[in-house]
Amino acid sequence: MKSKALYGVTALSLAMAGALPALAQTVSPPQVSQMTAKPITIAFLMPENSSPRYEQVDRPEFSKMVMAADPNAKLIISNANSNPDTQLNQAQSAITNGADVLVVDPVDGKAGAAIVAYAARNQVPVISYDRLIQDSKPAGYVSFDNTKVGELQGQYIADHVPVGGSIIMINGAPTDPNAFDFRNGALSVLNPLVKAGKLNISYTVMTPDWSPENAFQETQQALTRLGNKVDGVLAANDGTASGAIRALQAVGLAGKVPVTGQDATNGGLTFILEGLQSMTVFKYVPDEAAAAAQFAVALAANGQPPAGLVNAKVNNGKIDVPSVLLAPIVVTADNMNDTVVKSGYTSLSSICVGDAAKATLCQK
Ligand code: BGC
Repeated sequence: MKSKALYGVTALSLAMAGALPALAQTVSPPQVSQMTAKPITIAFLMPENSSPRYEQVDRPEFSKMVMAADPNAKLIISNANSNPDTQLNQAQSAITNGADVLVVDPVDGKAGAAIVAYAARNQVPVISYDRLIQDSKPAGYVSFDNTKVGELQGQYIADHVPVGGSIIMINGAPTDPNAFDFRNGALSVLNPLVKAGKLNISYTVMTPDWSPENAFQETQQALTRLGNKVDGVLAANDGTASGAIRALQAVGLAGKVPVTGQDATNGGLTFILEGLQSMTVFKYVPDEAAAAAQFAVALAANGQPPAGLVNAKVNNGKIDVPSVLLAPIVVTADNMNDTVVKSGYTSLSSICVGDAAKATLCQK
């Protein structure tokens, strides 16, 4: 059966052209509704709760988009709470309960291969969501350009740390392949500066489970080891940034050195308005969820990805996975209104809290 979905093409190409603020208005649901007689079942397996994005954005957006594509579809949604064994169990139980397609954001990119293998034995295709499942044969991959995310963070540090300064890198979880893409993207910008003697990367660490508490302890250790001589913190996301900021506060450095982030969480945006965090990388997750929903419904309905959706191939160590990669953008206090707020991703009332309420943006 042929999908007539145009959703992905329009919205996604807009996103890739960097026209994000327009998206919230232009987004229309996928139209993949000439369904087979048997209702389709789609399982959505989320990895964790270290970042609020999964329960606050991914879950409702994915559900909404599947239901828009096929109002008769059944959804099975789970969150593995950072445990790869739990996630394998959740995948198995979804298949037992009739899932036709699994959309999996793996806790652990390598361990996820067992989910793909198990699903394949049951003729169930897997779409790798946000994080790429390694050394396996997923039917598709939907994410952002994760190397670009790291490049944007690295460029911000390069532009805002004084020549000769020392930075620390609080990277993501060692089980998350994205964490390496973020780090490598950042290093592609920073390493030339290090070689030229213009910047020092004085401490670099991965953060198990992406936990803000781990990031706090790591930053404390870095500060102790470096005698507080730190001129910038490259934190991989808003959660790790929040831990780093807490450690910087304890030594009077918060707000004095640039700190990066990612996800445009309400907490991160509030910190930016308060001057404690410098930037975040905004990924318009509703587009990611919509692309994955469209991909999943098309696979369940006719075994093919929807026409025009795939825009890349990404190698996972075994195959070139047909992929949809979306564009991330930098958000600072200056463009926050025109991006995250105007797109409807969040509201001023959600971010203008505490000292942030005094920010110019919040006086509107
Ligand atoms: C996602 C980020 C998120 C992080 C922690 C990464 O795989 O791409 O958006 O902040 O995981 O959950």
